[in-house]
Amino acid sequence: MVRTTAPERADTADKKRKESHHHHEVFSAEKAGQLDTRLRRLLYRPDILAERLVKPGDHVLDFGCGPGFFTREFANQVGDGGKVIAVDLQEGMLRILREKMEREGLMKRVMIHQCTPDSIGLPPAFDGTVDVACAIFVVHEVPDPTRLFWEISRLLKPGGLFFYTEPFYVVPGREFREHLKEAENAGFEVVKRHLFFLNRAAHLRKAV
Ligand SMILES: C[S@@+](CC[C@H](N)C(=O)[O-])C[C@H]1O[C@@H](n2cnc3c(N)ncnc32)[C@H](O)[C@@H]1O
Repeated sequence: MVRTTAPERADTADKKRKESHHHHEVFSAEKAGQLDTRLRRLLYRPDILAERLVKPGDHVLDFGCGPGFFTREFANQVGDGGKVIAVDLQEGMLRILREKMEREGLMKRVMIHQCTPDSIGLPPAFDGTVDVACAIFVVHEVPDPTRLFWEISRLLKPGGLFFYTEPFYVVPGREFREHLKEAENAGFEVVKRHLFFLNRAAHLRKAV
C-alpha cells in the first residue's frame, strides 16, 4: 500500500479541483459572426449594460472583446474624453473589431491590444489607470484565471469596477463561486452577484 501524507493528499485534492476547471476551447474567430447578432442584442442589451457600468470619460478594459459586440457600446458611452482598451488573443477577432469601429466612427476612442494566452501584457504605464474592467464570456477559455484576476486588479484604479460573467451552460455555479474567491484573493470585493440574462455574473470592486 502506498501511504500518502496529509500535505500530499491536500495537494492531490487541489490538483483534482483545478483539473475539474479545465479551461475550454477558445471561441474561433471563424465564428465571430455569431457574436454580433440581433438576437444577442435583444437578449443582452449591451447598450443598457454600458450605461450602467460606464461614465463619460472612463477608461474601460474589455478583456476578451471578440469582434466588439460590447466594445461598441462601451465606446459609445465613454465619449470623446474616454477610452476603451479592447484586448483579445486572436488577431482575427481584432481585425473584425477594427473594421467595425472604423465604420462606425468609434476607432478614436478604442485602443486595440493583442495579448497572449497567459497574460494581458499591457505596459506598466497602464497600471492603476482603468475605471471599469469587463470579462464577458471569456474567463472559462483562459488557462490561468487566478493570474488574470491579479492582472486586472493591477490595471484598475483603487475602487475600480470589475464586471465578470460566464455562460451558465458552460461554467457550473461551484466553479463560478471558486473563481470569485480567487478574485477576492486578488484584491476584489464582490459587490453583488446577479444573473446577466441567464448567465452567472458579478460586480466586483477593487479595494480602495
Ligand atoms: C466567447 S468569445 C466572447 C467575446 C465577447 N466578450 C462577447 O461576449 O461578445 C471569447 C473571446 O475571448 C477570447 N479569448 C480566449 N482566451 C483568451 C485569453 N487567454 N486572453 C484573451 N482573450 C481570450 C477569444 O479569442 C474570444 O474572442
